[in-house]
Amino acid sequence: MGLLLKVILPLMGLGLAVYFYSAPENFNEEMLRGKRVIVTGASSGIGEQMAYHLARMGAHVLVTARTEAKLQKVVERCRELGAASARFVSGSMEDTAFAEEVVKEAENTWGGLDMLILNHIGHSYFNYFDGDVDHIRKLLETNFLSYVAMTVTALPMLKESEGNIVVVSSVAGKAPGPFAAPYSATKFALDGFFSSLRHEFIIENVNVSITLCILGYIDTDNAMQAVSHAIKVAPSPKEECALEIIRSGALRQHELHYPPGIVNGMLLLRGLAPGFLDTLIRSNIVRFGQPVPQAAPGTSAQPPSVRER
Ligand SMILES: NC(=O)c1ccc[n+]([C@@H]2O[C@H](COP(=O)([O-])OP(=O)(O)OC[C@H]3O[C@@H](n4cnc5c(N)ncnc54)[C@H](OP(=O)(O)O)[C@@H]3O)[C@@H](O)[C@H]2O)c1
Ligand SMILES: *[C@@H]1O[C@H](CO)[C@@H](O)[C@H](O)[C@H]1NC(C)=O
Repeated sequence: MGLLLKVILPLMGLGLAVYFYSAPENFNEEMLRGKRVIVTGASSGIGEQMAYHLARMGAHVLVTARTEAKLQKVVERCRELGAASARFVSGSMEDTAFAEEVVKEAENTWGGLDMLILNHIGHSYFNYFDGDVDHIRKLLETNFLSYVAMTVTALPMLKESEGNIVVVSSVAGKAPGPFAAPYSATKFALDGFFSSLRHEFIIENVNVSITLCILGYIDTDNAMQAVSHAIKVAPSPKEECALEIIRSGALRQHELHYPPGIVNGMLLLRGLAPGFLDTLIRSNIVRFGQPVPQAAPGTSAQPPSVRER
């Protein structure tokens, strides 16, 4: 089982990745010079790293998240790295009015927009589903509806620039594991909405690309804190992940699978042997240092009484 997940599956996936995702056009960092880019969830993790790459490439960046103090530091660093310009707007994406306000800020300062990178996520828990419907509603607002609202508001500018929409999702939005039901639901929603919208753009000759990023486990502080005790797979570096996201967006690819080996391998198995993939996923996730209990006939796992953070 371990050998399969760590060696054979990634190799199969890599082969497929080379076959399907060898881009016809080569990426050149000059493609981002002078481009006007919004990055959400850019106060930490992958979003912060994307801001730094874009700055280094000479783009105009507008970063957003809730924590003003962190955004201030990110903007300072972007200026040092050579951004054409760097600014921030702080606020919570739980409110779709704020999501629209961020796009308006880009319109007012730049008079247009080339790339919209939707990356933020609200806090959820890594545990058995606790029955909290209100939490799911709030998480959908933050992780999904705000993405839709920003897309709607930005679309006239993106049509004008023949720009790019980049949506950061997860393996949990294609082949879910346990303990992330609310999060997984919001990521599936993104695939449904944006993959449908992409069809419509193609049918109507709207030349705005949509790139859905299916990410595996990445070494950001928040992700490591939440799941490092529970996931047996080693995380991939956030710096490289951030660069791959920008690259696939600029190349107008429909999907990014990163890291390619594991993610392509999983998606391939999902089609060929979904039951086997599910077993493999469960066997690679442990909870509180314990293997996930196998459901015995007539028993059911008890949900914990306190929600963990
Ligand atoms: N890391 C992984 O293993 C992994 C795996 C698969 C997919 N992904 C995806 O990659 C993306 C980035 O993940 P990450 O690990 O870099 O996350 P992260 O470090 O936790 O960053 C999340 C960002 O979202 C912001 N945020 C949180 N709540 C918000 C709210 N209510 N309104 C606006 N902004 C909010 C945070 O800043 P504030 O707290 O300052 O608001 C932060 O900038 C996410 O879409 C995630 O689903 C990550
Ligand atoms: C779509 O836009 C890109 C970027 O401007 C351009 O390279 C490409 O030729 C356009 N495609 C069509 C069909 O107009």
